[in-house]
Formats: sequence, C-alpha cells, structure tokens
Amino acid sequence: MRFSAAVSLLSISHVLALPAPQTSESASSGSSGSLRGSDALAGYSADENVPISPSTQVSPEDTELAPGQSEDADLGLYVDLSHVKNPQPIRGGDTSPTDPGIRTQEYDRLNSDLYIPPGTDTGSVPNSKWPFGLSHNRHGLAGAGWAREQNVDQLPVATAMAGVNMRLSPNAYRELHWHKAGEWALMLKGSVRVAVVTDEGQSFVDDVTEGDVWFFPAGIPHSLQALENGAEFLIIFDDGSASEDGTFLLSELIQRMPESVVAKNFRTSVDTFKSQPEGQLWIFPGTPAPRDIEKQNVTGPAGLVPHQDAYTYHYSKQQPLKVPGGSVKILDPLTFPIAKDISAALVTLEPGAMREMHWHLKSDEWTYFIQGSARLTVYAAPASSRTFDFTAGDVGYVPVPNAHYIENVGNETLVFLEVLKDSHFNDVSVNQWLGLTPGQIVKDHLKVDDAFVDSLPKVKPLILPGNPNLTTTNFTEEAS
Ligand SMILES: *[C@@H]1O[C@H](CO)[C@@H](O)[C@H](O)[C@H]1NC(C)=O
Ligand SMILES: *[C@@H]1O[C@H](CO)[C@@H](O)[C@H](O)[C@H]1NC(C)=O
Ligand SMILES: *[C@@H]1O[C@H](CO)[C@@H](O)[C@H](O)[C@H]1NC(C)=O
Ligand SMILES: *[C@@H]1O[C@H](CO)[C@@H](O)[C@H](O)[C@H]1NC(C)=O
Repeated sequence: MRFSAAVSLLSISHVLALPAPQTSESASSGSSGSLRGSDALAGYSADENVPISPSTQVSPEDTELAPGQSEDADLGLYVDLSHVKNPQPIRGGDTSPTDPGIRTQEYDRLNSDLYIPPGTDTGSVPNSKWPFGLSHNRHGLAGAGWAREQNVDQLPVATAMAGVNMRLSPNAYRELHWHKAGEWALMLKGSVRVAVVTDEGQSFVDDVTEGDVWFFPAGIPHSLQALENGAEFLIIFDDGSASEDGTFLLSELIQRMPESVVAKNFRTSVDTFKSQPEGQLWIFPGTPAPRDIEKQNVTGPAGLVPHQDAYTYHYSKQQPLKVPGGSVKILDPLTFPIAKDISAALVTLEPGAMREMHWHLKSDEWTYFIQGSARLTVYAAPASSRTFDFTAGDVGYVPVPNAHYIENVGNETLVFLEVLKDSHFNDVSVNQWLGLTPGQIVKDHLKVDDAFVDSLPKVKPLILPGNPNLTTTNFTEEAS
C-alpha cells in the first residue's frame, strides 16, 4: 500500500512538476515558491515551446487483455477485468485508446461495462447504480447497530422507491416509530420480533427470520427487536425521497411536547419520564425478548389484526418456481394484501443464465443484489442504452417502461430482489410478445427465418439458461 502510494506520487510529480519557465516575478518570493504564478504564464508565448512529453501510450507489455476484450464491440461480451494486470479501456480489435492512469483501478475492475461499454450502448441514460458501500453509515447507541440508506440523494433517478440496509445487534431495537412512507422489508440475516398497533386498536406481534418479509403502511406505528442472534435486513420505502433519518420516534415525541402536556396526556406526573435519556433512541440496546411470543400477546377490545391484514409474510417458506437456469418466487398483494402497492420477485440465476429482456407496465423497478455478479442494460427511448455492473450489496434502478435484462456474469449463483411499486407483479416478455405476434409480422420487421419464428415461446421463459463461459461466441449450445 505504502509502496504504491509512493509510486503514484513520483509519477504525478513527474507529470505535474516539469521544469516550469520561471519569470523573475514568479521566482521572487523566496526559495519555497509562491502561492500563485505570474500572469505572464497565461496563453500563447512566442518564446516558449511546450516540451515534448514522454509518450502517454500504455505499452502492451505493461498491460493485459481479458478474455473477450478483443471481440467485436457490438457483441458486447462481458469482460472480467478483475484479474488482469493494469486493465485498459479497449474493446474490439484496436489496442487503443489506453488509460495512462490517474485512477483507482478497483472501480474499473468492478464496472467493466462502464469502462468499456458494449458498442451498442449509446445516448444518455441516468445513472442506475448505487452501492450501499458508498453510503454514509449511521451508528446507533452503544453498538446496538447501524443503518445506511439509498434515496434520491444518492440515486436521483430513483424517485418511486428508496432503500435502507439495517443491522441490529442481539436484542437491539429499532425504536417504536412511524413514518410517511410505506415500508416493505426483506430479512437478510438473523431474526426479528415485529410489533404493530393499528389505528383501529388491533395489535400484532410476530417473529420473522432470514428470507421473510414485513410491511408497515404509512403512519402505522411499529417496532423491531432483534432476537438473541441479531439481525440484518433490507427496507424498501415506497417513496424515493424517504429517509431513515426522517422517521417519527417515540423518544422524540415525548421530548418535543411540553412536559406538562405529556404528564396530562398520560394522567401522570412530570416525574414519570425523569429517567428518559436525552435525544433519539433510534437504534439502541434492549433486554432479551421473551422466547415465548405468547407472553407478548396484548389485546384490546378490537382484538388481533385479522389474518388477511397480517403485517408479515413467511416468504422463506414459499417454494420458488424452478425453471432451466434458475428460480423465481413472486410476492405481491394477491397473497400479501396489506402491502397493497408493493410487488416483488426473488430471483436466482445460475452462472451464464439471464433474466429475460422485459419491461414493466406501471412501475419503476428497484433491485437489490444479494449474491454474485450481474450486469443489466437499460434501453430508454429515445435511442439510448447503458450497461451497468452489480455485485452483492448494490442497488439497481430501472425507470418505467425502460427495457432491461439481468445477466449472471459471475461464477456463483446470482440472487437478487426485484421490487415494483404496483398492485401485482407484471412484466412484458419480449420473447412472449414476439411469440404471440403473427409470424409474417415478425419476419417483416426482423428479416428472420421461419425456424426462428417457430422457436419463439408462447409462455414467458422468465429466465434463459446460458453458457457459463461468457467469452465464447457459441451462446445457445453447452447450456446445462
Ligand atoms: C392472544 O390473545 C388473544 C385474546 O386473548 C387470543 O385470541 C389469541 O389466541 C392469543 N394468541 C395469539 C398468538 O395471539
Ligand atoms: C470466480 O470468480 C472470482 C472472481 O472473479 C475468482 O476469484 C474465482 O477464482 C472464480 N472461481 C472459479 C471457481 O472460477
Ligand atoms: C471460453 O470460450 C473461449 C472461446 O471459445 C475459449 O477460448 C476459452 O478457452 C473458454 N474458456 C473456458 C474456461 O472454457
Ligand atoms: C456450439 O458448440 C456445440 C458443442 O458444444 C457445437 O456442437 C456447435 O456446432 C457449436 N456451434 C457453433 C455455431 O459453433
């Protein structure tokens, strides 16, 4: 680390501190130089020729091309730069342009489709990627957990939905609170006890574990407590400008009202709240929840929240639909009615497989990558497309009705969550669209033959298996 820092300092001083022609004014303020140079340095000077600099070309010996990098740019093969020496922005037959190197190579290695876009990428498409790893991480009290978020502040295109990645240490709470947006969440690790009370005076308590989901409608108060082994989860707010820092907290409610009013409200004395710590609790340590959830059964005359309004869904127990190349399971209001505007699909793709080209009818798509490496191209009218790369912990976002696919470009199973702000999960499959269009029409448009038309499916494939060797140009065969 220290060595490479020294190397880059050397090369920068070589470039940026070439012997500068010193005028008598600029040299006049002592041996250590001056803050500003002479105005005589501005513009053309007949007396001075810029010296010929050393070559800025990167020599082929100082770099390495990855498999597929020399293939035709329009083919747009995924190029894995993660292991090549000194990656260069080369695609296709030419060995230029090169990158003389004011950069942090890790970004280029992680985002090869930005660095060397497929030749088919063109025009202007808003940024569609945000890694939670670049979000500010807010820490709770006394090691109780943390949360980092992605909203329009981080990803301006994501106006319909925002995300939060939250950690609760064993027994820690996300305090009793409510907010303006609806909150849908997927458990990533561990277990959480959820407690909710409705405006009708119904109560709800449940435990959720890895792979399960909850939903809290706007304004409905709730709390979360990690069970004994802690938890990590992913929250999706149904509003792109929602912020984890903008929620309404019980601790603040009590502190922001006159003490006399609080005492009158609870028919008690002002001393009752003397031990409450100053400031927000937000994420804070708790006492262990009783193992037996029956012990936390508090009901009023309105009783429990009825089954059809349950705030949790044990999605981990839902069996996915298995198809060649992966699996899909959908959760939308048809089976989880309380989340009436959120529809999601949890998808797995084997190496080389692809979520088919599609678009959605009414909603933007908010996507979270849970495992593996993927890429996605957004096609947006008019005449624009851009390709983005993703790894675990990244958020992707596709505005409606832009077409896109998601391809597993890694060597492990890709797992991701697609979320729509819609009352049922929907997409238009390009395969099915063409498969159900009269063949003569398809042939007139694409100049394809009958064999192609006959091969088009009438049912959405959802997922297409693919050759895990992404640098072969033989795509259809060898797919296992
Ligand atoms: C909780 O209490 C209510 C009312 O006493 C009862 O109907 C219900 O079965 C209890 N158990 C659970 C799991 O809610
Ligand atoms: C999988 O890909 C990673 C990252 O590119 C690489 O380090 C690893 O060696 C690969 N594993 C196999 C079995 O190819
Ligand atoms: C992938 O395919 C390319 C092109 O056919 C071939 O050169 C390469 O050896 C293959 N890689 C593997 C790991 O099979
Ligand atoms: C693709 O590979 C398969 C064997 O895996 C081979 O039978 C087929 O001829 C190849 N197709 C082309 C176009 O090279």
